[in-house]
Amino acid sequence: MPTVGASLIVEREAIGANVGANGYTTVAQADLLAKRLRLGPDDLLLDIGCGRGWPGVYLAAATGCRAVLMDLPPPALAAAAKRADDQGLAERVSVVRGSATHFPFAARSFDAVSHTDTL
Ligand SMILES: C[S@@+](CC[C@H](N)C(=O)[O-])C[C@H]1O[C@@H](n2cnc3c(N)ncnc32)[C@H](O)[C@@H]1O
Repeated sequence: MPTVGASLIVEREAIGANVGANGYTTVAQADLLAKRLRLGPDDLLLDIGCGRGWPGVYLAAATGCRAVLMDLPPPALAAAAKRADDQGLAERVSVVRGSATHFPFAARSFDAVSHTDTL
């Protein structure tokens, strides 16, 4: 079996779906995040340390919110943007290269902030 096939199987078993995860947050935990943050179509979410788009892209798809996904490595951001585009979410999901330690946004720019497995 090819390595990529094995990694997809492991991700599905551990996370609950193939979502481009680069951490340990499960689909059930992402659903709980959406519920606790009360995300909906009127909201703008910032997902810090978005990696390859998990869970920001999922949260936008599941709740109808708009989302800005922020991380540092360009390949991860490109993968996140592609994931959003592939799901027809390019108009509601944008990616930005930035660090949480040098926050590039003004205060109160977002309705909600998420970060999963981001140290
Ligand atoms: C373990 S990965 C988790 C990625 C994704 N959130 C997930 O759950 O699959 C941690 C991510 O945090 C990002 N990160 C670490 N420090 C950061 C910082 N200061 N600002 C933004 N992102 C950061 C890393 O580049 C990496 O993509």
